[in-house]
Amino acid sequence: MRIPDTLQLEKRLSSEGMTNRVIVLEEVDSTNTYASRLARDGGTEGTVVVARNQTSGRGRHGRKWISEPRKNLTFSMILKPEVPIDRLGMIPILAGLSVAEALTAFLPNPAICKWPNDVLVGNRKICGILSESFLLEERAPVVVVGFGVNINQRSFDGELGESATSMSNVASRAYDPVIVLISILRSLSKWYDEFLRGHDLEIVNGWRSRTRMIGLPAAIMRNGEMIKGTVLDIDIDGGLLLQRSGNIVKVIGEEVSLEH
Ligand code: BTN
Repeated sequence: MRIPDTLQLEKRLSSEGMTNRVIVLEEVDSTNTYASRLARDGGTEGTVVVARNQTSGRGRHGRKWISEPRKNLTFSMILKPEVPIDRLGMIPILAGLSVAEALTAFLPNPAICKWPNDVLVGNRKICGILSESFLLEERAPVVVVGFGVNINQRSFDGELGESATSMSNVASRAYDPVIVLISILRSLSKWYDEFLRGHDLEIVNGWRSRTRMIGLPAAIMRNGEMIKGTVLDIDIDGGLLLQRSGNIVKVIGEEVSLEH
């Protein structure tokens, strides 16, 4: 089940009522790098860059994103929200929520959100999201949101063998990546619209309903110190709140490890 060419995919999306500009690449270093460059050069809001293969896929915290060519979805979307920059932390949250909502409709088990924007089935990661923001010269914010969704890949090497899964592993069947893409874009468009209307509480509530993190023991590393606590909630700006014995710690950028 091959991802079609640019024109065909654009037609397909438009037949579904979607107006996104689409670019399909056979191979690229990273769709996030490509989309960021495009956004600086005038690429418009809603543009979607899809690659059949990435040679240097990037993950969070400087990690690599490894995905078997032509088996999965690797794509990025350009967003140019006209909002104050202190609201941008909600974008990773709504991106993870959108994917969890979309994938759950296809799978026998629910896809759940892990802060800030991983999507898991069981305890295994099925989608990773890399959200990168910067300001254009005129100080307008750009957010490039990149999605790596494991669709038809059946085996994962090395430590991913323990921690990753795919839609086809979960459901023991193959999926058409375009149908999954359309469904994610639809969900994304709905939640991004809520964001633009300032309905952050709806997004937070949607995320809460699709996470299992609340109440779990968790730890972060901050300035070389391990901070342990219990996940209390997410804040209205997208930060994660950890309850410690005497105080509440707000997590913004650090990696959170959970004790399941
Ligand atoms: C993570 O879980 O660490 C985030 C992984 C994000 C991977 C996607 S694949 C499409 C886009 N292009 C990239 O280089 N990274 C993101």
